[in-house]
Amino acid sequence: MPITTISSIAELRSTLDAARAAGRQVGAVPTMGYLHDGHASLMRAARAENDVVVATIFVNPLQFAEGEDLADYPRSIEADTELAEAAGVDILFTPSVDEMYPFGPVLTTVTVSDISSGWEGVTRPTHFAGVATVVAKLFNITGPVHGYFGEKDFQQLAVIRRMVDDLSIPVTVVGCPIIREDDGLAMSSRNVYLTADQRAAAPVLRAALDAGLAAISDGERSPDAVTAIMAAVIEDEPLAELDYVAAVDAATLETPEHLDGDTRLLIAAQVGKPRLIDNDGITIQS
Ligand code: PAF
Repeated sequence: MPITTISSIAELRSTLDAARAAGRQVGAVPTMGYLHDGHASLMRAARAENDVVVATIFVNPLQFAEGEDLADYPRSIEADTELAEAAGVDILFTPSVDEMYPFGPVLTTVTVSDISSGWEGVTRPTHFAGVATVVAKLFNITGPVHGYFGEKDFQQLAVIRRMVDDLSIPVTVVGCPIIREDDGLAMSSRNVYLTADQRAAAPVLRAALDAGLAAISDGERSPDAVTAIMAAVIEDEPLAELDYVAAVDAATLETPEHLDGDTRLLIAAQVGKPRLIDNDGITIQS
């Protein structure tokens, strides 16, 4: 079936209500567009598990702080439509800002405390409230059984999972593995900002994660020791400026005294204009 593009909330709701009335289950893939293979993997996962797949493209002003790249966030609706169609999406929801926020500044927001405040939340203190608010709104609009998100934004995934649990939103959140370029750089719409030199330097984040994982595999259990090893890899790359590096419990995103069980290494570094983030996991058997 060819993809249908819908920009009105009312039209999307009536289309999806009719599908649900016919016993069809909806899966949603929220995105901000400028789609790449990472998004396509979410769409394919949704295609495999649902009768109707809705992908949303909305560059959400609420999750950008002043001075961030809201105005020049990359957009490419034609290429996005092709990619989404090839990945099996049935409906592309492309609302305008006025459609999503018709009353001007929103007065009702969703804040997921604690889990939003560390790591990304230090540099971007209002970001996750913007994400949680728009995702709650998109879930309310699309009424999906499953919602698909990439593990690249690992903290975002944790925030969304917690919001869904705390607010009893009837959606199963599905986290999908990071998709990488051949040299290990995690795919991201913001990679387009990298110059050729910066692009060549950017896989240093993957190298830092590998060094941290290798130290853990060799028996290191001190979070400080692991993060020092990772930081040293970034410091060797003149084009990268480390923002944070962390070795955390994968469920709570808190730093334990000793690494054990499901562990996630998180990293963020400025490489030219974009602030790149990446992460990887390891299960430590004690
Ligand atoms: O990950 C993103 O692209 C966005 O943060 C999301 C989840 C679509 C909310 O705007």
